[in-house]
Amino acid sequence: MKVIGINGSSRKDGNTAIIINAVFEELNKAGVDTELIQLADMDIQPCRACFACKGKGNCVFKGDGFCQVFSRMVEADGIILGSPVYSADVSSKMKALLDRGGVVVAANPGLLKHKIGASVAAVRRAGGMTAVDTMNHFMLNKEMIVVGSTYWNMVYGKDIGDVLKDDEGMANMRNLGQNMAWILKNQQLTSPK
Ligand SMILES: Cc1cc2nc3c(=O)[nH]c(=O)nc-3n(C[C@H](O)[C@H](O)[C@H](O)COP(=O)(O)O)c2cc1C
Repeated sequence: MKVIGINGSSRKDGNTAIIINAVFEELNKAGVDTELIQLADMDIQPCRACFACKGKGNCVFKGDGFCQVFSRMVEADGIILGSPVYSADVSSKMKALLDRGGVVVAANPGLLKHKIGASVAAVRRAGGMTAVDTMNHFMLNKEMIVVGSTYWNMVYGKDIGDVLKDDEGMANMRNLGQNMAWILKNQQLTSPK
């Protein structure tokens, strides 16, 4: 079983990476493999609304990082979408990924069906709820199973490492990882062969 985490921040290894890794730690303890994909490393262009992806299973524009990331999403058993809050919502890179991924799945139904998902946001002060909702809306619209925790999945912090001081937020990330591991294991037990 494999879960990928996609970090939508322009800041590599920042707060969003830290909180995704906190979820990963619990998954790893349960024997689930994980991989962090950081969009800071790559260009993700906006959707061109051409719908040329119909029947092709991926975007037809191969010149940036999108197709590689989307292929990893299709291969994974679980997906964590993580974003810092930018202007009271997700980062523009995360939004471009959601826009293009959304159109590819609409044009090629079922690509993300029954994958286990969770959204997490790193936020200085305001907009965490909107960012989590934006990412959850993507997953709920793509037949994914969205996992919850004991609070909505945002952790507070501005400078790199500040999120580690938000004890409640970090505990929520660990619980989210445990819940994700639980459903992944139970899904394995009950899935039809
Ligand atoms: C372009 C930009 C816009 C931001 N907008 C907001 C905002 O609207 N609300 C907020 O609380 N924090 C905002 N922040 C702060 C980040 O969400 C916060 O520092 C977060 O921890 C960064 O996570 P990262 O280290 O993964 O990039 C913004 C930061 C940047 C760079």
